[in-house]
Amino acid sequence: MAKHPELLAKYPNVEVLPSNGQVRCLFASIRNSETSRRKFVFDSDRLITMLVEAALAKLPYKERTVKTPMGLEYVGAEFCSKLVGVPIVRAGESMEKALSNIIQEVRIGKILIQRDEETALPVLIYEKMPRDIANRHVLLLDPMLATGGSAMAAVKVLLDHGVKEDHIIFVNLISCPEGIDAFCGAFPQIRVVTGEIDDCLDERKYICPGIGDFGDRYFGTD
Ligand code: URA
Repeated sequence: MAKHPELLAKYPNVEVLPSNGQVRCLFASIRNSETSRRKFVFDSDRLITMLVEAALAKLPYKERTVKTPMGLEYVGAEFCSKLVGVPIVRAGESMEKALSNIIQEVRIGKILIQRDEETALPVLIYEKMPRDIANRHVLLLDPMLATGGSAMAAVKVLLDHGVKEDHIIFVNLISCPEGIDAFCGAFPQIRVVTGEIDDCLDERKYICPGIGDFGDRYFGTD
């Protein structure tokens, strides 16, 4: 049975990557403190690709009929909205490559949010979005949903640009009940695709059992 059934029942917009042997091998690898940086990046990229694919499956499609080399019709689908990926700098940039590998020439916005050391509140430092973002679906990218502070600040930026709440899908690798409660409580129409929901946050607001500092491990700054 999936972990945190009550949380998932409370927030039907949260989808957890289906667990199977392959997914559990990859999570064991990236969570292992002994894993080399090269393997950490490789295995994280594989999981992130699965998450991005799961998020893309939530976008609107319309029917498309093509003719096969057999001269016969095949009824499939085609994507019928415009898309932009918006990573929250810096850790979210680790998710850009997976999105660009799947959708070539996808538009990429950027948001940099930092915590004010005195108030502990998230502060917007930089943002750059495509001009027509209000008409697009947005994949908001950040690997760790901890307190939800940065993600909620990022959503406010998107909403200020006119993006519709139900056009946003927040993609993350590891989340926790505190972050899901805060984020989904504030933005109930946003869909969340997460790899695994962990147990809790510690006193430093790190996810437990977690992965440590994702950005440091991915970009080699630890
Ligand atoms: N960011 C991280 O990189 N790790 C956590 O556990 C929480 C936030």
